[in-house]
Amino acid sequence: MKNDIAYTLVSEEEIDATVTRIAAEIDRDYPDRSKGLLLLCILKGSVVFMGDLMKKIKVPVEIDCMKVSSYGCGTESTGQIHISLDLIRPDINKCDLLIIEDIIDSGVTLSHLTKYLKLKGAKSVKTCTFLDKPTRRKVDFTPDYCGAEIPDEFVIGYGLDYAEKYRALPFVGVLKPEVYTK
Ligand code: IMP
Ligand code: MG
Repeated sequence: MKNDIAYTLVSEEEIDATVTRIAAEIDRDYPDRSKGLLLLCILKGSVVFMGDLMKKIKVPVEIDCMKVSSYGCGTESTGQIHISLDLIRPDINKCDLLIIEDIIDSGVTLSHLTKYLKLKGAKSVKTCTFLDKPTRRKVDFTPDYCGAEIPDEFVIGYGLDYAEKYRALPFVGVLKPEVYTK
């Protein structure tokens, strides 16, 4: 598995500092501690980031999950999203939602999902991504919180997978292209 990785893009130390910084930004922006904030984890890639982030946020949070995919297979976006686990909450009109995503690529997933959750009646919807590849955009989308902008490389680790592998790596690495082109 180590031989599949070309180099480390975000180290464990950099991840920790980044998550600390984002948590402080969220605490700053949601100052009313009596009102809950709903962190919405987009499965499966965001599980690790969400787990780290929720421990560092001081504002009281609730959590929920959705499963949404835009990648059919391989490393290219299909341009459409598929919701295989929906958010079902009768109190959605009272929820300040913060969508937690692992990485933004074309922007299709978060752009569709934000509109969908607003249509469902959420009180507010904001987005937080650990990584962003802005040069890959197919639709105009800017997240409210972003850990780091990265170049157009396929990355794995810290929740991110290729063919369901590498999610448990504690750092973000760039996969050697021969791993997904062979
Ligand atoms: P988008 O809809 O094109 O923005 O796709 C975002 C989703 O694609 C992410 O939630 C990931 O699941 C997946 N994705 C995009 N780039 C990468 C990558 O470099 N490694 C692993 N998954 C990726
Ligand atoms: Mg994802």
